[in-house]
Amino acid sequence: MKDKLNLLRDLQGEAFAGGGEKRIAKQHEKGKLTARERVHFLLDEGSFEEIGMFVTHRTTDFGMDRQKIYGDGVITGFGSIDGRLVYVFAQDFTVFGGSLSETHAEKICKIMDMAVKTGAPLIGLNDSGGARIQEGVSSLGGYADIFYRNVRASGVIPQISAIMGPCAGGAVYSPAMTDFILMVEDTSYMFVTGPNVVKTVTNEEVSSEALGGAMAHASKSGVTHLTAPNDIECLAAIRRLLSFMPQNCEEKPASLPYTVGEELRPHLAALIPENPNQPYDMREVITGIMDDQSFMEIHPYYADNIVVGFARLGGKSVGIVANQPMSLAGVLDVNSSKKAARFVRFCDSFNIPLLVLVDVPGFLPGTDQEWNAIITNGAKLLYAFSEATVPRITLITRKAYGGAYDVMNSKHIGADLNYAWPSAEIAVMGAKGAIEIIFKKEIDEAVDRDAKIREKEAEYNATFANPYKAANRGFIDEVIDPKDTRRKLIKGFQMLEHKVDRLPQKKHGNIPL
Ligand code: HXC
Repeated sequence: MKDKLNLLRDLQGEAFAGGGEKRIAKQHEKGKLTARERVHFLLDEGSFEEIGMFVTHRTTDFGMDRQKIYGDGVITGFGSIDGRLVYVFAQDFTVFGGSLSETHAEKICKIMDMAVKTGAPLIGLNDSGGARIQEGVSSLGGYADIFYRNVRASGVIPQISAIMGPCAGGAVYSPAMTDFILMVEDTSYMFVTGPNVVKTVTNEEVSSEALGGAMAHASKSGVTHLTAPNDIECLAAIRRLLSFMPQNCEEKPASLPYTVGEELRPHLAALIPENPNQPYDMREVITGIMDDQSFMEIHPYYADNIVVGFARLGGKSVGIVANQPMSLAGVLDVNSSKKAARFVRFCDSFNIPLLVLVDVPGFLPGTDQEWNAIITNGAKLLYAFSEATVPRITLITRKAYGGAYDVMNSKHIGADLNYAWPSAEIAVMGAKGAIEIIFKKEIDEAVDRDAKIREKEAEYNATFANPYKAANRGFIDEVIDPKDTRRKLIKGFQMLEHKVDRLPQKKHGNIPL
C-alpha cells in the first residue's frame, strides 16, 4: 500500500505542476494567477474538492499522444463560499493554453450536471486559447455540449463567469448565456473575431484591448457586468455577488441577522432639488435607504441613465432598478431598457424582491432610438416587470411621465406597493410640452405670449405636478415623508415575504427579443 500511496502522491504532484514552472512563471509575469491559485482565492480556505484531476485527452493527431498533462487544461470541482456549496471550473492557461478539448469539455459538463442536480451555483473562470486546434470538430462539439447545459441551467442555478485571460471565437457564448460576466482589466478580452480578422474583413485597425477588453465591454457593448483591476479583486467580487443570491430557483436568498432600530433617514428629503429640472444622484437615495455599505452596483459603466444593483434592506437581499436623473435626465432608452430588463429577469428567476425608484421624464426621442428599436427594447422592460412574480415595491421620488410611468413597475403591471414622495409628479407629460398642445390656441392668441405660457404652466403644475391625482385613484398606495422611506420599505417587504403569484400555465412567454 505504501508504494501505491507514493505513486498517488507522485501523480498528484504531476497534476499540480500543470504546464510546468516556465509556463507558470509566464502566467505570473502577465499579472495573472494560475487556475489553482484562483480556485484557492475564490473558495473558503481548504474547501475545494477536485474532480477529474487525472483526466487526459484522447487525441493522437499531431503527436498529441506524446503530450498528455493531467487535468487537460481545466481544474474542476466543488467547494464553498461563505459556507455555501458552489461548483467551479478554472481553465489552466499553462496547459495547452487552456484550450478546450473533448475531455476538457466533458469535465466542465460533469460539474454542470452535478450543480443542477444538487441545486448549487456554478462559477466558471475562463482563460483559454479557445477550441483545441488539434482536436477539430470534437472540440466544437464540446463547446456546444457546454452551451446546451448553460441554457438548461439558466434560471435553475445562478451561473457566473469570470474572464481572466483570452476568450475568443464561439467560446464567448458560454459566458454570454450565464447570468453575470466579470472581466479583469488589462489581462482579459472577449471577441467573436479578433483584430486580425477585423482588419481583413472591415479594414479597421484595432487592438485586442480596444476591441474586446474589460472597459470596452463594460461601457460600450454591456457584455460584461463588472470589471476588476486584478484577479484577486475579481474573485472577491464573485464572492460578494453570490452573497445576494440563493442557491437555486427553489430557495430564497440568505438573510443577514437584523434588528429593527432607528430607521428614520431625515437627510433623504434634502436630496431632491427645489428646481425639478435639476439633477441629483439617485445612488445617494439608494445608499440613504438601504443597509449601510450593502449596495453593489451592476453594470455601472453601461447605460448609466438607469442604475441597477443588489443591496440589503433590513438584512434581506433586494434587487434595485432606479432611474438616474444625473444622466440624460434619467430617460429610458434602448440600452437602459435592455440593461434593466435583464436584471429584473435575473431577480425574478431567483426570488430576489425588487425595489424600483422612479424619476423618469419619459422615453428618449430621436431617429437613433426609433431605428434601434426603442419600441421592442422598451417593451423588454415592460414585459420583464409584468412577468415578475417576486415582491415588487415602487417609490416615485420625482417625475413619472408618460409611458415610462407605466413601464417603471406601476401598479397597473403588477407592483405590490406603490409609494410616492410629496415631490412626485405623475402625468402624461411635463408642463411645457403639455400646455403647448392643450392650450395652443389660447397661447397663440394671447397679447403677452410668455405671460400666458407661465400662467398655463403654473395651472398645469398645480393640477398634475404632484402625486395626489394618482393617490386619489389608488395607483399610489401612500404618499410618504422621505424620512420614513426605509421603515416603510422594510415593513412592506416583510408583509410581502410570503407572496404567492403564479403566471398562467404556458410553455414559455415570448419576450420581445
Ligand atoms: C491548442 C493552443 C491553443 C489552441 C494556444 N495554444 N491556443 N493549443 N489549441 N487553440 C497553446 C500554444 O500552442 C502554446 O503552447 C500555449 O497554448 C500558449 O500559447 P501562446 O500562443 O504561447 O500564448 P500567448 O502568446 O499568450 O497567446 C495566447 C493566444 C494565442 C492569443 C490565445 O495562443 C492564440 O492566438 N491561440 C489561438 C487562438 C485561436 O485561434 N483559437 C481558436 C479560436 S476558434 P506551448 O506548448 O508553446 O506552451 C474557437 C472556436 C470556438 O475557439 C468555437 C466554439 C463554437
